[in-house]
Amino acid sequence: MLLPDRKEEATRDKRKYKTVKYSIDSKSKNKYKGKTFYLKTYGCQMNERDSETLAAMLKQLGFKEEKDYRKADFLLLNTCSIRENAHNKAFGMLGRFKHLKQTRPEIVIGLCGCMAQETSVCEELLKNYKFVNLVFGTHNLDKLPILVDKAFSSDERQIEVYSREQDLVEDLPVIRSNKYKAYVNIIYGCDKFCTYCIVPYTRGRERSRKKEDILKEVDTLVKDGYKEITVLGQNVNAYGKDLYDDYFMGELLEDIAKTGIPRIRFMTSHPWDFTDKMIEVIGKYDNIMPSVHLPVQSGSSKILKLMGRRYTRESYLELFDKIKKIVKNVTISTDIIVGFPGETEEDFEETLSLCEYCKYDNAFTFIFSVRRGTPAEKLKDNTTLKEKEGRLYRLNEVVNKYFLENNKKLEGKVVKVLVEGNSTKSNMYYGYSETNKLINFTSKKDITVGDIVDVKITSAKTWSLDGEVVE
Ligand code: 5AD
Ligand code: SF4
Repeated sequence: MLLPDRKEEATRDKRKYKTVKYSIDSKSKNKYKGKTFYLKTYGCQMNERDSETLAAMLKQLGFKEEKDYRKADFLLLNTCSIRENAHNKAFGMLGRFKHLKQTRPEIVIGLCGCMAQETSVCEELLKNYKFVNLVFGTHNLDKLPILVDKAFSSDERQIEVYSREQDLVEDLPVIRSNKYKAYVNIIYGCDKFCTYCIVPYTRGRERSRKKEDILKEVDTLVKDGYKEITVLGQNVNAYGKDLYDDYFMGELLEDIAKTGIPRIRFMTSHPWDFTDKMIEVIGKYDNIMPSVHLPVQSGSSKILKLMGRRYTRESYLELFDKIKKIVKNVTISTDIIVGFPGETEEDFEETLSLCEYCKYDNAFTFIFSVRRGTPAEKLKDNTTLKEKEGRLYRLNEVVNKYFLENNKKLEGKVVKVLVEGNSTKSNMYYGYSETNKLINFTSKKDITVGDIVDVKITSAKTWSLDGEVVE
């Protein structure tokens, strides 16, 4: 048994990590033919991408995917720790698995991902969730075949969570969930240590993949007919800093643009690392989508300092204005936390006024959720939950107003949409515009999923737009 340790998770060193190649031994291939797995994913795109690899590894072992957990032989939750409610959802699901185990004791239950990296969660699992057979963290995901084998062949619980990142593993198998849109990891981990955030502990230090490995993956996606990639990292802007002296996110984005993939998105960007080179490249290449996710978290410099965000209200706005000026028709979205410890009514009003200025195209708004072992846990918090809920409500009123106002400006305009599928309404398709807006539309001519079509916008709503394909 190997449990995570928060102190070790927090340490960073200059040790060079190795890049190793994944392989599965031939005896394991198809060993579990006839068995099925159920995999549920919580949280961010990084977890979704990890699950595409987990599913592929299980399929190599011979498992078939089963969408109904009640029928599966192996049940795995890939979990998220970002806020308390993510925890609650996963524990709720474990409750259902417990009932199932009573009628089908032969099933194997596993939990992996960010929650597994938390000592308190592992302790809880050990004490009160004895029916969970297998726990592994984000640092040994590639060891799934070995761990599954152990879990199926022994009654002993397998708990193997490393506190520190291991080698960077290439050539992991992947079964992508979409035929036209793909996620491409470029950097793992985060070294920013924002005081509220658990990610630097659960995902480890920043580790960039080698540019050759990334570009090879994108080239393959181009050959396979993919239309859009989203370049992923907890903080993509830190790309290359741990690996190269003169090759960073701007250079990488430019090389990715040159592969000719029709659409490139990237997320998430920390305002602190957003360079002029990046802005120049985003503005220059038509296949880099003019849509930037730029989390602000708060409009008050005092709160930003307490959050450890390394920028002020003023420097954020300077960057915001620069991106708006240089990247034509860019849309900017953001993340905001309300009710951070120490946030007064005046601080919150600064967040509102910043939103009035930025008129974001999308915003993900959250109430501060205290995470065990983060510096913010120790800060004094005088705001009641009721007040925090009131602030969230007022904030949403402001941001929603601008979503609609911005969308209205698109009425009558023609936008390019990557067709993703038929929407629930009959004869309607849906897809996203270059600026990442959800478009529901009709078409008189034949179109198929994966096409990029011109759509004239007929009416705007707060979270989507309606339109019709231009003849
Ligand atoms: N409480 C509330 N929101 C959080 N986020 C990260 N940690 C917390 C927390 N402890 C939000 C931030 C981040 C987004 C992914 O989740 O806004 O940008
Ligand atoms: Fe968390 Fe801050 Fe890193 Fe984002 S940049 S993952 S908010 S520590």
